[in-house]
Parts: sequence; structure tokens; C-alpha cells
Amino acid sequence: GQHILSVKQFDRDNISRIFEIARQMAPYASRKKRTRVLDGAILGNLFFEPSTRTRVSFGCAFNLLGGEVRETTGMESSALSKGESLFDTARVISSYSDVIAMRHPQAGSVAEFAEGSRVPVLNGGDGANEHPTQALLDLFTIERELAASGLQIDGMHIAMVGDLKFGRTVHSLSKLLCLYRNIKVTLVSPAELAMPDDIVSNLADAGHQLVISDKLEGHLNADIVYQTRIQEERFPSKADADQYRGKFRLNQEIYTRYCKSNTVIMHPLPRDSRMEANELDNDLNLNPNLAIFRQADNGVLVRMALFALTLGVENIVKDYECAVPW
Ligand code: CP
Repeated sequence: GQHILSVKQFDRDNISRIFEIARQMAPYASRKKRTRVLDGAILGNLFFEPSTRTRVSFGCAFNLLGGEVRETTGMESSALSKGESLFDTARVISSYSDVIAMRHPQAGSVAEFAEGSRVPVLNGGDGANEHPTQALLDLFTIERELAASGLQIDGMHIAMVGDLKFGRTVHSLSKLLCLYRNIKVTLVSPAELAMPDDIVSNLADAGHQLVISDKLEGHLNADIVYQTRIQEERFPSKADADQYRGKFRLNQEIYTRYCKSNTVIMHPLPRDSRMEANELDNDLNLNPNLAIFRQADNGVLVRMALFALTLGVENIVKDYECAVPW
């Protein structure tokens, strides 16, 4: 099996294959069927930065394939806090595990860890750099949601909104979009939180039409609006982050006024529910085009597919099917 460190390692053919396997995982994820194909396998789930979805969905995806999960949450519960190197930690944990999922606050740290690992490492987010499995589940969601309107990723209009500087999910997603054709990409952020230049250049080199703005007005009539949180943990202080909060709020009234009737709203989550932030208002919860929870659900399917492919069992999942006893 291969490490999954960056979306740059994928092309359209292997993305199609991942999505095909992800669709086959649906009956197992919904507990209609049960498989033990990874019986006896161990996932080392190492999260050195807070996480709900990525950590739990990696764990559940592995459990749903019959494997077991050993988890470390937080730097303070790891010997990294005693000065152990990423290399030594990787050597040790990888001899206890068949595959490792890892998140760490430093850009490049998961790749450094992978150098010491004897088993495949899946990047669950490294600082502001990349979040490749999130980008795959985002793209899987975009494809599914657009299909309902007869649209495809090629030729779509996506608006990415918010903290495009520190948001690793939009970095990874933008890199994946370079594999597709004729996309209109609207980037809305405060000038100080703009998408990094190299990623903007890649989008332009891919032939996509780019619109860059520091105002939301006039930019919401897209097929997909991908909202993001101000990544407070990457700012020097809370006060630095506070000045950008609430700038690009999206609620039902704004949706009705400026979005298309079929604009799909996405967000990698967590959305910031504190009053001063609230980039995606709860009054959108009943909007059928709010795809944020379908997006999170798809994370289990895509991560099951990635485990199956990484461990080479994608073709024999059904052979290990057993009855659902409940
Ligand atoms: N989308 C995402 O990465 O969420 P968590 O931080 O909860 O894992």
C-alpha cells in the first residue's frame, strides 16, 4: 500500500476508481450488510490536533470493514510531548499497526512521519497544508450533488468563501479541481486571507476561469458554494482572527436573495456556531440544498474505499460478508 499524503498523487482514473469503491461501500456503511474483510487488522489513529469527523470517520470506516482501531488524541497524551521525534514515533506505532491515519498541526509533519513508518500513512490534515481525504470526499459529494441537477464537475461554477489562506481543505480541493476542465472558480476572502498564489496559478494553468473578490455580493450564483471557517488556531492570536469573523455570513435570507434555486451549500465543518462567527447560519438547516451533513456522511464511504484500496482488499470485501445480527 501507498501513503496518501497529498492530492497531487491522484489522477482522474484513480479518483474514479476510489469513487466506484466508495459507492460499493454504501450498504456496509448503512449497516444493511456487514463485512469482516479487515478482521485482525489494526488502524493507528493518531490525532495531534482536535478533530471530530476525520478522526471518528476514519475509525468507523475501519471498524465497518472489520478492523480494530487504536487511538491517540492530543499531543499531551503522546510521547511527542517528551521530545520524541516523529520518526521514532512512526517506527514504533507502525510496528503495532497495519495502516496509520494522522493529523498534526505542522505543515509537512505527516510526510516526515511517513518516512519513518513501515506501513501506509493517510494524511488527516497537516497544518494549513493539505487534507487529501477531505478533498476526495468533497469532490465525491460535489459529483453526487451536481448529478441531481444534471451537472458535472467539468463545466461547473464553484465559489470558495472565507479563510482561503489557512483552510487546508480548500487548498487540497483546488489542487484536485486542476484535473478537471472548464470550471469557473470564484474565490471570496479578505485580501489578507487570500488563496496562496501557487494554488491560484495552478487553477489558471488548468484553464479555469478565475474570479477573485473580497466581497460576497454578486458571487453566490454558483452551482456549489463552499463555505469555510476562519481558522483561528492558525492566527497569532484570537484577536487577529476576530477581525475577520462574520464577514461572509451565509443565511437563508442571503441564500434566497443571491443564490440560484439549486445552489448546493458545502462546508468541511466544523462551522463556528458562536454568535460572533456563524459563517453558516442554523436557519439553513432545513434548506434541502445544504449538503454539509451528506458531505460528512460521505467521508465514511470514501475512507472505507481508501482503506480497502490501500490494504488491497477492494475486490474481496463481499467474500467476507456476514449476516447483520441486529
Ligand atoms: N472536516 C474536518 O476535518 O473536520 P474535523 O476537524 O472535525 O475532523
